[in-house]
Amino acid sequence: MPGLLLGDEAPNFEADTTQGRIRFHDFLGDSWGILFSHPRDFTPVCTTELGQAAKLAPEFSKRNVKMIALSIDSVEDHLSWSKDINAYNGDQPEEKLPFPIIADAKRELAVKLGMLDPDERDKDGMPLTARVVFVFGPDKKLKLSILYPATTGRNFDEILRVVDSLQLTAYKKVATPVNWKPGDSVMVIPTLPDNEAKKLFPKGVFTKDLPSGKKYLRYTPQPE
Ligand code: BEZ
Repeated sequence: MPGLLLGDEAPNFEADTTQGRIRFHDFLGDSWGILFSHPRDFTPVCTTELGQAAKLAPEFSKRNVKMIALSIDSVEDHLSWSKDINAYNGDQPEEKLPFPIIADAKRELAVKLGMLDPDERDKDGMPLTARVVFVFGPDKKLKLSILYPATTGRNFDEILRVVDSLQLTAYKKVATPVNWKPGDSVMVIPTLPDNEAKKLFPKGVFTKDLPSGKKYLRYTPQPE
């Protein structure tokens, strides 16, 4: 079955992009990576999304995350559309964006990575790319995937928030609760014994009493 599951290694594909030909693993290097697809160049929702992605690029870079977009158009179209995206953002209408866009005109990667939306088709009846987000860790394993249909624009603030959560898990061994925001308390993961949690989280572990008497709701202030 096409697609990627959590824990799968990123495929080491070669592709043409707006910043030249890449091999994906070399592109990622030792960084975190976000591969996000969109249906088509010169379409309204996609323009707003890539504009927002460009605005947030410094935030992703601060978190050591390399961004790369993908759709089923040519490099030439991507470059021409990039001028519109920059103009939409109120910037100079130049071809350069802070991340490359993969040209997958033959849909080879889109099929391999399970990115097609069967409900949205082009004038020839071929399915467009859905709005997929894959976040890879520095080990090149898939840490998170999001799959939206072509007709629903994503929330890139949410994508930044999940990167913060993934990195807290990777580096500080904590989980984040419902509607967590950076700075809020985080949760001790269920498999960590109490004595180890006390050592690992010197700011303290706070347990909420529950009718079951089980002590599994354990909070700690967000580690630095
Ligand atoms: C858009 O980006 O506006 C769009 C693309 C494909 C289907 C629906 C909307």
